[in-house]
Amino acid sequence: MNILVTGGAGYIGSIVVEQLIQAGDSVVVFDNLYQGHRDAVHPDAVFIKGDLANQPEINAVFEAHKIEGIMHFASYTLVGESVEKPFMYLRDNAVNASNLLESAVHHGVRKFILSSTANLFDDPEKIPIAPTERIVPGSPYGESKYIIERYLHWLDRIYDFRYAALRYFNACGASHERGEHHDPETHLIPVVLNVALGKRDKFYLFGNDYKTHDGTCVRDYIHVLDLAEAHILALRALDNGSRAYNLGNNRGYSNLEVVETARKVTGHPIPFEFGPRRPGDPDTLIADNQAIKQALGWTPKYPDLETIIKMAWDWHVKNPNGYEK
Ligand SMILES: NC(=O)c1ccc[n+]([C@@H]2O[C@H](COP(=O)([O-])OP(=O)(O)OC[C@H]3O[C@@H](n4cnc5c(N)ncnc54)[C@H](O)[C@@H]3O)[C@@H](O)[C@H]2O)c1
Repeated sequence: MNILVTGGAGYIGSIVVEQLIQAGDSVVVFDNLYQGHRDAVHPDAVFIKGDLANQPEINAVFEAHKIEGIMHFASYTLVGESVEKPFMYLRDNAVNASNLLESAVHHGVRKFILSSTANLFDDPEKIPIAPTERIVPGSPYGESKYIIERYLHWLDRIYDFRYAALRYFNACGASHERGEHHDPETHLIPVVLNVALGKRDKFYLFGNDYKTHDGTCVRDYIHVLDLAEAHILALRALDNGSRAYNLGNNRGYSNLEVVETARKVTGHPIPFEFGPRRPGDPDTLIADNQAIKQALGWTPKYPDLETIIKMAWDWHVKNPNGYEK
């Protein structure tokens, strides 16, 4: 298939592009490099530097390339920032997606995969979290993803627009060639590995009074290669109908367990201090992944935290400055 990947120069998008190309698909990457890196884009993908805020630029992509499906990763992605700058999220994430969707509909494209988020579930009634859990976005970021899901719901009804909304839990890990490089970096595993690399002296762990076995937040960590496989399976299955899936491993690790495992993998003491709680962090987020396993036959290959951290560490050691030369 010929697939348009927005945000394909970013962390998850670039690794999904790599896997699509390995699977024999053709890929057009559209990214404004706000967070992405040109060198993260697979050399066999067509790269277009463009901004989803600019609808003529998006239309030009559909006119120049016969796009058959879309994977939409491009977004502002930080929960904390979204609380400080709600319009950047509620407006820009939604309008950028709306531009893309309108252009897609106009050019006859009807297949779409959305990077959605576990931040739809701020206050889950039941752990692990089923896709039927009531939706209570935890921030303007989560709300912006929910707005896009609602667009998709209506486009499905009106235009037979087939979509999968993949509500990721914590993406992590790396492939051989590509890994996680954000600026600023806020995700726990790369932050911890940056301490082990000597790039920072220590880090702050937010909160030790959560209602969990060791007082630190518990999260479901999903390897980016398992995420990539889920995207590809979801795209191939779109003719069966539209659906939202929770995408995680059905098990959680606490922040302290992440630090302990990273110490074991890297052999570094990784000093840290406890800081205050971060607003908007629930105690525990774990995905019930039965729906995607049953519907798509998806089986995670790298559910083990030590393997995840080892693969991320290997990439960081090979690329201590990430994609910076
Ligand atoms: N990383 C996670 O744990 C996680 C969890 C849940 C959901 N998600 C979602 O997955 C997607 C990818 O996350 P990521 O961690 O790879 O983020 P990322 O920041 O590495 O990638 C996003 C990419 O989108 C590009 N981009 C942003 N705004 C754009 C615009 N207006 N026009 C064109 N390109 C634009 C950026 O330059 C970047 O390359 C995001 O939508 C995010 O919300 C990520």
